[in-house]
Amino acid sequence: MEIRYQIVRMLSDGRFHSGEALAAAFGVSRAAIWKQIGHIREQLGLDLFAVRGRGYRLAQPLELLEKELIFSSIPKESRRLLSKLEIHHRITSTNSYLMELGAKGVDSGCVSLAEQQHAGRGRRGRQWISPYGSNIYLSILWRYALAPADLTGLSLAVGIGVMRSLEALGVRGVGLKWPNDLLCGDRKLAGLLLEVTGEQTGPSCVVLGLGFNTLLTETQGADIDQPWTDLAHVPGGRDIPRNELVAVLLGNLLEVMAGFEREGLAPFKAEWQRHDLYHGKAVVLQMGTRRIEGIHSGIDSSGALLLEENGEVKVYHGGEVSLRPL
Ligand code: BTN
Repeated sequence: MEIRYQIVRMLSDGRFHSGEALAAAFGVSRAAIWKQIGHIREQLGLDLFAVRGRGYRLAQPLELLEKELIFSSIPKESRRLLSKLEIHHRITSTNSYLMELGAKGVDSGCVSLAEQQHAGRGRRGRQWISPYGSNIYLSILWRYALAPADLTGLSLAVGIGVMRSLEALGVRGVGLKWPNDLLCGDRKLAGLLLEVTGEQTGPSCVVLGLGFNTLLTETQGADIDQPWTDLAHVPGGRDIPRNELVAVLLGNLLEVMAGFEREGLAPFKAEWQRHDLYHGKAVVLQMGTRRIEGIHSGIDSSGALLLEENGEVKVYHGGEVSLRPL
């Protein structure tokens, strides 16, 4: 592990550590520690205090991701679906990384997590804000015998995997927005990005990416172009350890991904409709420059959006839904 990450691990308790103690712990000079502190501030974006005579301290303690802890906390029956678990400190994007591994033939069930993404991607070409040591940036690669066209419902099914995890952890007040956003009080808590490659008639390879805000400061969230929230501000979410959340999410998401191959969206549809925050509401569907107004009438068996326009129900496969302003 690079020295800067070892220093961060030592400082993650939120207490003061003297330059001398850090230098002795890692067998380097105090000047070398000072240089690394600069990298930690600039590259990792962590807020650090340096106080003469006391040393260095992080503004907030961090709960860093622990591979062994996560692995052993995944329920045994779901753990068998995991082929590999990797945790990166800093990566471009866990989705981009797994897409590359997918092209090289890595097995189904490969999971990649990161403490920080410096080119995190959201849907519709957005960036995904991914500061170091908070939130969850998680990707899972799964291989299907199915054709890419048969996987459209998967993007909704995985939302159920996240909802089940939150329910199991006692989190309240979160629902789904088509196709796969998780909102609390109309603010985005988490989003899913599915990227599919494959032959026209199958097989296919899917990389599922989950970005889940656990703790974001106002400064970190300043560039997000939609209302957002984090788990610390959601009922029942404040004290959930990050490692536990990851383990519960992985258990549920792996089960959903494996189950979709056998049964498709059908076993998840009723549950999806129950969590659908906009069902029956007046919405706007933005498709490129096209703006369609209607009443959100649920989803069909492929996961497409049903919109009632002047008494007629139409089916839409893409676009961005928002509530129609009064
Ligand atoms: C959305 O726009 O709602 C989807 C956001 C998906 C973000 C996650 S973070 C982990 C994975 N890696 C990425 O670059 N994107 C996804």
